[in-house]
Amino acid sequence: MTRDHVDLQPLNTLRVPALAEHFAEVTVSSQLQGLLAHARSNHWPITVLGEGSNVVLGDLLPGLVLLQRCKGITVLEEDDQQARVQVAAGENWHGLVRWCLERGYLGLENLALIPGSVGAAPIQNIGAYGVEVGEFIQSVQCRLLPTGEHRVLDRDACAFGYRDSVFKRELKDATLIESVTFILPKSREPVTSYPTLAAYLEAYDIVDPDAREVFEAVVAIRSNRLPDPAELPNVGSFFKNPVLDDATFTALAADHPAMPHYEDPAGHKIPAAWLIEQCGFKQCEGAVRVDADHALVIVNPEHRPAAEVAALARDIVGAVQARFGILLEQEPRRYGIFEQ
Ligand code: FAD
Ligand code: EPU
Repeated sequence: MTRDHVDLQPLNTLRVPALAEHFAEVTVSSQLQGLLAHARSNHWPITVLGEGSNVVLGDLLPGLVLLQRCKGITVLEEDDQQARVQVAAGENWHGLVRWCLERGYLGLENLALIPGSVGAAPIQNIGAYGVEVGEFIQSVQCRLLPTGEHRVLDRDACAFGYRDSVFKRELKDATLIESVTFILPKSREPVTSYPTLAAYLEAYDIVDPDAREVFEAVVAIRSNRLPDPAELPNVGSFFKNPVLDDATFTALAADHPAMPHYEDPAGHKIPAAWLIEQCGFKQCEGAVRVDADHALVIVNPEHRPAAEVAALARDIVGAVQARFGILLEQEPRRYGIFEQ
């Protein structure tokens, strides 16, 4: 039921070479208890992977890698106002966004074209163009690792924040998400305030856009702005945007009046892309490099190992800290053993 030394290079969008010591693909939940018991009896650590679009994998992942591929979308309840929909973790995220749009279930359109699986969406509370997924999540159904005990976490228990949730804190690497239950409204004022989205709609003279127009605008902006991992391997934003308190922000803004910033409930959010670009990385050359169009994305066209990606990330963190005194936090999770 498990395979040994499985190549994970095609299963991560950064295309770093990586081997799973042991590997299994989960396509029906009934497989799970057996796999978890097998891992327990062999004392294997477990790593869960979705579509590998937000991980940096070392050369070897010890223990068992579980690929979550369970499929299925069920409408649990529906009335004139909203629908409650349970989605298996292995469904593709963008596929779900399209499915919802076709049925008139609203809210997810700003999150179009985010790569990855539904099961990974709550992990970092995926967000884009003014919307975060946590707003629409009613509950997350998961198994605790390695025991397999079933747990249902409601939205409050998920503790969603900016690129953050309980699954990155108290329950870090401690669960396998089986499904996510969403509550989706059938009427809703579209969210169009994100600067790039607002500018796009204005440029194309789209006034009072509906959800489909927002979806299409987001798809167009993203296709233009971010490299497609199928053509240029990457994991999207490599760092979180730092959020500064008043005192730090005021001091830094005085030294760097051109520094862009957005007001966030948590503080002043600075685009990490700007900080990185100011340090000259957008012009950098090399097998692993910062994308020429978006400074927050590290691209790996030659499929170099994770250690080379980590080395560039270290240089970026060091340069930004030296120039701005800000410590960037890596967004994609790092797993396995890195050759240095
Ligand atoms: P993986 O990379 O496979 O895993 C990511 C993490 O989730 C790992 O810690 C893994 O252990 C865990 N995980 C995955 N599935 C499960 C499960 N079923 N149960 C428990 N744990 C699990 N993110 C945004 O938020 N906004 C964006 O706009 C955005 N744009 C992107 C653009 C590009 C071009 C790329 C490549 C990435 C982008 N991302 C963005 C990041 C990425 O798409 C999301 O983080 C996505 O949710 C990752 O899904 P995945 O299935 O590929 O997860
Ligand atoms: N900018 C630069 N140089 C660049 C690119 C951007 O200076 O090369 C500056 C500009 O000032 C620009 C600002 O950064 O206005 C913001 O750029 P963008 O709108 O592209 O957003 P971002 O802050 O870089 C965040 C998310 C993205 C998400 C977009 C849209 C994080 C870490 N990243 O990027 O998420 O798609 O907003 O909401 O919050 C991801 O998580 O992988 C991801 C792509």
